[in-house]
Amino acid sequence: MSTWKRTVECGAVTEKMLGKEVVLNGWIAHRRDHGGLVFIDLRDRSGIVQAVFNSDHSKEAHSIAESLRSEFVVSIHGTVIARSEAQINDKMATGKVEVQVSSIAILNPSKHLPFSLEEDDIDEELRLKYRYLDLRRPLMQQRLALRSIVLFSMREFLIQNGFFEVETPILTKTTPGGAREFLTPSRIHQGSFYALAQSPQIYKQLLMTAGFERYFQIARCFRDEDSRLDRQPEFTQLDLEMSFVEEADVRGVIEHMLAFVFKKLFNIEIKLPLPTFAYDYVFALFGSDKPDLRYNLPIYDLTSVFKTVKLSFLEAVLGQGGKIGALHIEDKKFTRSELEAWVEKSKKLGSKGLLYIHFAQDGTIESPVSKFLPTDFLKQAQSVIKSLKLGDTLFIVAGNYKEAWPILGKLRSAFAQELDLIKPNTLNLCWIVDFPLLERDEKDTRWNSAHHPFTAPKEGWEKLQPGDMKAQAYDLVCNGFEIGGGSIRIYDKAEQYKVFEMLGLSDKEIQEKFGFFLEAQEFGFPPSGGIALGLDRLLMILANAQNIREVIAFPKTQRGYDAMMHSPTPIAPTVLKELGIACIASSKEGNADKK
Ligand code: AMO
Repeated sequence: MSTWKRTVECGAVTEKMLGKEVVLNGWIAHRRDHGGLVFIDLRDRSGIVQAVFNSDHSKEAHSIAESLRSEFVVSIHGTVIARSEAQINDKMATGKVEVQVSSIAILNPSKHLPFSLEEDDIDEELRLKYRYLDLRRPLMQQRLALRSIVLFSMREFLIQNGFFEVETPILTKTTPGGAREFLTPSRIHQGSFYALAQSPQIYKQLLMTAGFERYFQIARCFRDEDSRLDRQPEFTQLDLEMSFVEEADVRGVIEHMLAFVFKKLFNIEIKLPLPTFAYDYVFALFGSDKPDLRYNLPIYDLTSVFKTVKLSFLEAVLGQGGKIGALHIEDKKFTRSELEAWVEKSKKLGSKGLLYIHFAQDGTIESPVSKFLPTDFLKQAQSVIKSLKLGDTLFIVAGNYKEAWPILGKLRSAFAQELDLIKPNTLNLCWIVDFPLLERDEKDTRWNSAHHPFTAPKEGWEKLQPGDMKAQAYDLVCNGFEIGGGSIRIYDKAEQYKVFEMLGLSDKEIQEKFGFFLEAQEFGFPPSGGIALGLDRLLMILANAQNIREVIAFPKTQRGYDAMMHSPTPIAPTVLKELGIACIASSKEGNADKK
């Protein structure tokens, strides 16, 4: 097999090179056989150029061309010539020229591909199984190129602004709270396990103690959580930490970094400072701590309006201190089947029901509960929803505020999508601040950190009930996704200890899990603050992709499975023995994913 060193990339062959001899390497995207003439489209990372094999020009090359098939890797040697007028393809960057081939080497043939690289709608499992083929598609190449330049620009900004890039361990220690961890057994310390880092949180605070003052890292993090469209078990953060700062300083660095990246790469100006909203405010208006502000559609609190309505299920909710929230859809009457679908949807989201009220143009109220509503119901509702009018519809969810509002928030997003309310090509960035410090766990038995246990409480916290304490924490939200989260840290040992205690940790547990960290706080521990951006999420938004798997080279499936390598896998008994591990059951789940 002979190969030649390429002299030019396929996408860079232009009219300026007419008459020049070139060597090109790449994959065959298409082949067309016209007898004495065979055409191939040759593709490399830079683009595609047409090459022609003319039997009059080179019999040998032409005869090899007859055996070529899609996705063979070849090296060609030829001359750049102009295409005839009729052959010019304005859609191709190289469409005015072609390469007349003198000789060709087949570097490697290819089997027939399991899917066409030109299809848009390929089964995702199949794409992930053959990810190396999927990544040949120009769209995927563009997405990973975007990832590369965004990360490069972030590094450029941070290094110019005095940040040090420091790597921290991935094999680390299990800590309570937070997400479920991936554990790795130690061969040397049998029976003991490392935890894979959920984030570099503790290390970056220790780097501040070490005096680095401004740290960042493009950090791989591992969390054993169920995957979602914006979640992977293994994901990447832009993690940073700064000493001697306040909330505004950390947020300022991130804002200016994003402004720098967006301007440099996309020529997009973002207006700084970014809008900032309190958690309580956005929860009340949008039922979420990561509201999509590309559209309005707020939640209205109609509790006062329904106080006098004699409907037993609403009275029961109000009797238990619940609330009644409404979404207002303007100028729309829904069909019966549409209404049924929305009721179904709200039930899937966890509501007991979804009440609709339509104000018909003739003044009548269409609703399953219309006969229970006062005749001036429209007027009463208008006292809360100023823009409400005939022709509009209200969708109502009643229940406990903390449960009903998130359901309304999710319905809000679903309505916005269904009714096409979302402005395309918009980046709507904002900060959410004033988060609660603690939240009840799912079983309502104890307090968990809303962010993490190193987050500093807001001043005056000692005098408040745990549920009323606020955190010096901030989230960055873009188009309804939490793309970053951070906080100012506790730097006083006694305060840190109290927070651990509030989380229900005994003195023994505190010493076992965090003794080294509390000790560090006795050696001149500086105040600090930081943040981590979810790079996969940010890139998903920038690439206009449907989920974060689209911007990760080798992601796991929705079930945390590597469809290409078939991982996780059972481990041979001899290896387990060496690690001192006995499995009580083999994973049927992993096997179920195998195809
Ligand atoms: P947090 O846990 O909020 O903070 O994570 C920071 C950001 O990381 C992204 N993210 C994820 N992205 C993809 N898949 C996941 N499973 C996943 N989990 C989180 C989100 C999130 O906003 N150490 C703190 C940061 C700090 O306090 O400085 C931390 O990790 O975009």
